[in-house]
Amino acid sequence: MRIILVGYGVVGKGVTTILAERYKDKVNDYGFNPKIVAIADIDGAVINPKGLSPEKLEEIKKRGYPISADPDFGHPGMKALDVIASVEAEVVVEVTPVNIKNGEPALSHIITAFKTGKHVVTTNKGPLALAMPALTELAEYNNVYLRFSGTVGGGTPMLEFAKRCLAGDKILAIRGILNGTTNYILTEMPQTRVSFQEALTNAQKLGYAEREPSMDIDGFDTACKVVILANWIMNKKITLKDVDRTGIRDISLEALDEASKRGNTIKLIGSIDGDKASVKPTEISKDNPLCVSGVLNAITFSTEYAAEQTLIGRGAGGIETASAVLRDLLDIRHKLADRMLNDNSES
Ligand SMILES: NC(=O)c1ccc[n+]([C@@H]2O[C@H](COP(=O)([O-])OP(=O)(O)OC[C@H]3O[C@@H](n4cnc5c(N)ncnc54)[C@H](OP(=O)(O)O)[C@@H]3O)[C@@H](O)[C@H]2O)c1
Repeated sequence: MRIILVGYGVVGKGVTTILAERYKDKVNDYGFNPKIVAIADIDGAVINPKGLSPEKLEEIKKRGYPISADPDFGHPGMKALDVIASVEAEVVVEVTPVNIKNGEPALSHIITAFKTGKHVVTTNKGPLALAMPALTELAEYNNVYLRFSGTVGGGTPMLEFAKRCLAGDKILAIRGILNGTTNYILTEMPQTRVSFQEALTNAQKLGYAEREPSMDIDGFDTACKVVILANWIMNKKITLKDVDRTGIRDISLEALDEASKRGNTIKLIGSIDGDKASVKPTEISKDNPLCVSGVLNAITFSTEYAAEQTLIGRGAGGIETASAVLRDLLDIRHKLADRMLNDNSES
């Protein structure tokens, strides 16, 4: 499987690491033989149609920025869009920064990949939050797969658990703590007796929150994940504008103390229930399995037959999220093998 990697930051580097570390296992277990034929970032690309060797990938990682300075395979200034359109490959792994205003640059990367017959694995929530129904249709129209398990739960397989393990059941509602930064802040405030602002500053110092924290604390990140869950798991056709969203800026230590007197706490909960998709600070019992602390994520699926199922895990991290990319690549590998079998049995 030839792969074009677009974006070479925390997750992109994690992808090259995990493909190298797990290469032998996966070739043995699944006959999966991934080859990174190009890496593109904002300044240019490295391209080798035969596949960049593990030694070359290591050299690129060590040399650092810009990757296009590579003396053998570097293409300074070459745009990711041109790499996607011109390099032969089966899959584009799209791991550029999220943008919820217009989804770019990832939206154009994904569309170009589809139009040139390439499957896409992405961890980027932006294009999905803004245009998931259209993107899934476009993938189908072009007879390619779009996979995105790293967008919700990082390495914790929240989407797969619901899609595969609960396939025999009916999911009635979903509730989750889907953002580690806000969960850290809401845990830190009562535990260390600090205000929202102080907890946010601590989160920024520890690298849990961005310098521009709005995406997390105003609930946009959770809302993006609610959109992906609603479309993929519950067959809704919604986008970001359909999610009723309130963040955690106004949560005070006093409100958390009051909730505590009732045996409860306040968490930022993303939920899908019937036609309603929302993100809001919600009082929940400290005994609720959803009530995880720190940067952990948790999700509860309420089902018709198996009652409530809760999954807990780390919601982010470069290598964790890269493991979700590998999971998606293996899924595409299986799907392509099935296609080949069907084609052979028909011919
Ligand atoms: N990190 C996590 O734990 C995590 C977890 C789940 C999902 N995600 C999502 O995964 C994606 C990647 O995250 P990350 O943490 O790896 O981000 P990152 O460290 O900021 O890396 C992003 C990479 O994309 C490159 N880039 C920016 N604009 C580009 C363009 N127009 N064309 C090609 N490359 C471009 C950047 O290059 P420069 O550095 O030169 O700008 C950088 O190499 C994001 O959408 C994020 O929300 C991340």
